[in-house]
This record gives sequence, C-alpha cells and structure tokens, in this order.
Amino acid sequence: MKYFAFAALIVLALSGPAIELKDSDLVCPQEMIDEINSIQDSWTASSEWVGQMTVAEAKLKASSISRPREFPEKDWGALINYFSAPASFDSRQQWPGCVHPILNQEQCGSCWAFGASEALSDRLCIATNGTVNVTLSPQYLVSCDSQNYGCNGGYADLAWRFMKDTGVPTYSCVPYIAADGTCPTKCADGSALQFYKATSVNTYSGPSSIQAAILAGGPVEVTFQVYKDFMSYSGGIYKHTKGEFVGNHCVKIIGWGNQSGTNYWIVANSWGTSWGLQGFFWIAFGQCGIDSQGVAGSA
Ligand SMILES: *[C@@H]1O[C@H](CO)[C@@H](O)[C@H](O)[C@H]1NC(C)=O
Ligand SMILES: *[C@@H]1O[C@H](CO)[C@@H](O)[C@H](O)[C@H]1NC(C)=O
Ligand SMILES: *[C@@H]1O[C@H](CO)[C@@H](O)[C@H](O)[C@H]1NC(C)=O
Repeated sequence: MKYFAFAALIVLALSGPAIELKDSDLVCPQEMIDEINSIQDSWTASSEWVGQMTVAEAKLKASSISRPREFPEKDWGALINYFSAPASFDSRQQWPGCVHPILNQEQCGSCWAFGASEALSDRLCIATNGTVNVTLSPQYLVSCDSQNYGCNGGYADLAWRFMKDTGVPTYSCVPYIAADGTCPTKCADGSALQFYKATSVNTYSGPSSIQAAILAGGPVEVTFQVYKDFMSYSGGIYKHTKGEFVGNHCVKIIGWGNQSGTNYWIVANSWGTSWGLQGFFWIAFGQCGIDSQGVAGSA
C-alpha cells in the first residue's frame, strides 16, 4: 500500500494536476471557445487553428518536463534592487534581424529543443552584432541528446547542458524531420558538422531577472503550464480562463509590454506562423508559471 501511494505521488508530480483528460476528446470544443470569448476580454479564442485537434495531439505540442534546475540562479548582486526595466521592450526592434523566424515542431514533443536552440541562435547573432547569424538545429538535440527523450519530451535545462558541453550545428546542416531520427555524423549535404556552443548558462527566476537577462543578452527560454484554452489563443493578453492542464511547454520570451495596466510578455511559440499572433503570443506576467524559471546562456 505504501509503495502504491509512493508510486501514485510520483505520477502526480510528473503529470501535474490529476484531472482525467480523455485523449480522444476535442481539446477546444466550440462551446468552450464561445464561453472564453463571452466571459473575459483580455484575449481572443478562435477555432481557426485548433480546429478538431484532440487532447492527444495537444499533449504532443506541449510535452516538456519540469524538474529541479540544472544551472545556478543568476546573481545580479545589488544591481537588481535598483533595476527598473523599461515599460516595454522588443528584441526584434532592439536587434533587427537577430530574432530568427518562427519554426514549427509539428507532431513531435520537441518544444524543449526549439526553445533552447532558438534562444541560442538569437543570442549568438546579438552577441556578434549579426556576424554569426544562424538558425541552430533543434533536430540535432532531438536525435543526439540522450539525456532527453526526443519527440517524447525533454527538459529545457538538459538541452542547455547539451548545448554547453557538445554544441549544436545549424538547421540547414541538420534539418528538422519531426521524428527522433538517428544522430547524424555529418551534415545533410555531406559536409562536416560545425558546432555552436553556449557558455555560462544560468537560471533566471522572476520577472525582473528575466527582463535583465533579455536586456543583457537577448531571448530566454522558459517552461510554463499549458491548459486546454491556450491552444485556441488568437490574440490579446492570455490569462488562463478555461480547461484542464495539458502539459508543460517550452518557449522563447523575446520582450514585454504594458497595456491597460497589465504587464505582458512577448513570446515566440514553435507551432508555426498560423498559430496565435503570426506564431507569437502575449501572456500576462505570472500566468501559468511563465516567468518562474527561465534558462539561457551566453553565446
Ligand atoms: C540574418 O539572416 C537573415 C536571413 O538571411 C536576414 O534576414 C537577417 O537580416 C540577418 N540578420 C542580420 C543581423 O544580419
Ligand atoms: C553592428 O552592425 C551594424 C550593421 O552592420 C553597424 O552599423 C554597427 O556599427 C555595428 N556595431 C558595432 C558595435 O560593431
Ligand atoms: C503599466 O501601466 C500602467 C498604466 O498604463 C501603470 O499604472 C502600471 O504601473 C504599469 N506597470 C508597470 C509595472 O510598469
């Protein structure tokens, strides 16, 4: 009995709130979308992208795993007490041409690899003033990072561990196939793999620390909790409104803003450009753990 209770606890810890989600159910039925739009006006829900998506399909789109941090919390020293972030900030304006295009993980639980490789791609460009301007390969992480689980999910922190220790080649060298694949020993065109690495990786917890990290070096990867309603997001400042927990999801915060007294993050998702605001979304500070734990390294 004791063992059973212990096992049940572990399952709970890994899967979040214990609510029965039927895999074959629609993740966002039309009644839910209508209700979201009638009870609040912070954000808009739409059936356009989510359509007939089932809970099982949605789970693949949000399948990172949260776990204790791998890297030390960034110590900003006394600076952080005097730090006052600008009311709004957008990496796309600050560093033109360094925030790389929105990608699409498709039906593979690889968000952890996208958030990590995308943030490092942008940071490399920013750190080198556009001299090193490459989109790095999420596929290399999916196929080669044996501490993570390929299309079955992974940890943001372990992706950064891999990018620090081994590094990743470019997207054009190892293109995305939305499957586990086998770890390649050369580029698709037969040329030698060339690795780009992260250095001094840190954890950034809380809005001020994440803002300071973005101002200092560019986009930061974060893990947050996706609930059913998030799949139907089509604009505005997202605040969880309806629906059960689906899974943890990794994304890249690129900036923030303030509208009608609400502070929100500007975030790049990896569900293609037809989702949300051309692939991006706005989410209120503190929602769904979005700013509780960020991770990024210097390029
Ligand atoms: C990086 O490359 C992309 C694609 O070629 C280009 O659109 C962008 O302007 C470049 N960025 C910089 C900073 O040169
Ligand atoms: C960065 O690149 C831009 C565009 O190429 C150039 O105008 C600028 O002077 C560069 N800045 C530095 C610090 O090298
Ligand atoms: C956001 O803007 C409102 C006014 O539009 C202001 O009252 C509030 O303090 C701002 N929040 C922050 C943290 O800047």
